[in-house]
Amino acid sequence: MSFNRRSFIKSASALAALTLSELSAISASAQINTDGKPVAADDDAYWKNVRQLFPLTKDWTYLNNGTFGPSPYPVIDAMRTAQMDQDMSGNYGGYDATPPKLAKFLGADKDEIALTHNVTEGINIACWGAPLKKGDEVIITTHEHVGNFNPWMSRQKLHGIVIKKYTPAPTAAETLERIDALITKRTRAIVTPHIPCTQGQVLPVKDICRLAKDKGIFSLIDGAHGPGMLPLDLHDLGCDTYASCTHKWMLGPKGTGFLYVRKEMQDTIQTYYGGAGTDDGKWDLMADPVTTAGYAPSAHRYFGGTQANGLYAGVNASIDFIESIGMMNIHNRIKSLGKYTQDKLLEFGDKIELITPTEEISRCAVNGFRIKGVDYHKFFDKCVENKVRIRSVAECGLNSLRVSTHIYNNRDEVDQLMDLIKKSLA
Ligand SMILES: Cc1ncc(COP(=O)(O)O)c(C=O)c1O
Repeated sequence: MSFNRRSFIKSASALAALTLSELSAISASAQINTDGKPVAADDDAYWKNVRQLFPLTKDWTYLNNGTFGPSPYPVIDAMRTAQMDQDMSGNYGGYDATPPKLAKFLGADKDEIALTHNVTEGINIACWGAPLKKGDEVIITTHEHVGNFNPWMSRQKLHGIVIKKYTPAPTAAETLERIDALITKRTRAIVTPHIPCTQGQVLPVKDICRLAKDKGIFSLIDGAHGPGMLPLDLHDLGCDTYASCTHKWMLGPKGTGFLYVRKEMQDTIQTYYGGAGTDDGKWDLMADPVTTAGYAPSAHRYFGGTQANGLYAGVNASIDFIESIGMMNIHNRIKSLGKYTQDKLLEFGDKIELITPTEEISRCAVNGFRIKGVDYHKFFDKCVENKVRIRSVAECGLNSLRVSTHIYNNRDEVDQLMDLIKKSLA
């Protein structure tokens, strides 16, 4: 179901309860559906209408989608409606539509999608399930988020795996060379962010996965920043596993995510969770000895138990919302805002150090930078004082700043940040 005015206004009484912002969202919603047609990245009138669909406060300038993506009204409304329905009716279940819907959106099969609550959970399932033993080598970057470092660090402590690191290079080709140079006979896994949280560089994950596959090495992508920012086809990407969330670039409910496990890998990536839905139903507790079952013949083997109807209705609505605009339109808009941000930062010359590559295939919506002679913490505080929300980056000793822009942003907001930089340099 694509998002439309009728699905938003459920009844006259709901209409009466709407705030002014919600009412302007309704009038904007009638105009955002593109029916699959292209919208120019600089069609400001169109993107202004899209902005009306977000309750995100206008008192602040939010340039931090990399931390989490504020949801638009249709997502919030779908969550509220489904939660109300569950609590009023006592109906159980209700999340079954989400794995197939996510699979279609991501270019995967429905049996390859496990529901999770965030990226961290998906990474942990894949990391702990990977058959690794003492001395096995795992390649990671020096730009990992703790969510993709701590699990591997624990396996190093507990199981003696060896972690080998590389720093992403300014170009995709050099990055691949660095990975290739680390591969030995003992390499069992290449683990990489699709886009590191530190500086937003788009890594050449398709080539990395091909390299891994050619050498019989397992690949895990930390896709925190993939879906909703980049059009994705996981089968084409060729990864074994892809862990992500719907609460960043997909603008979905906070605390929702997924883990993709390629069908052929499901008997290799061991599940350690057991519960309702993770088995094939062929067990008998009353038999003596107890008859044990196999695992669910799908990625359902990785998640079980009660799920939140409201949250998954919100995930479904976030996919509808993205599709009503068009994933390619969204990608082009946010890539152009990212380029605008880069260009503005580069205008400062040697007073600003841009950390994100300018190479076309290695950049998108997130930019990292340092201001010469200005402490990053102080600048961050200055942004807060001026109600501009960005992120400071202490990871990997980068001591830098990160700005990320989504479809609810515009160039004026990026300019506000640039004015603050100018003032700091004065
Ligand atoms: C690259 C990366 N990986 C993993 C995570 C962890 O995500 P979550 O909080 O959904 O577990 C983040 C969060 O910002 C991230 O940026």
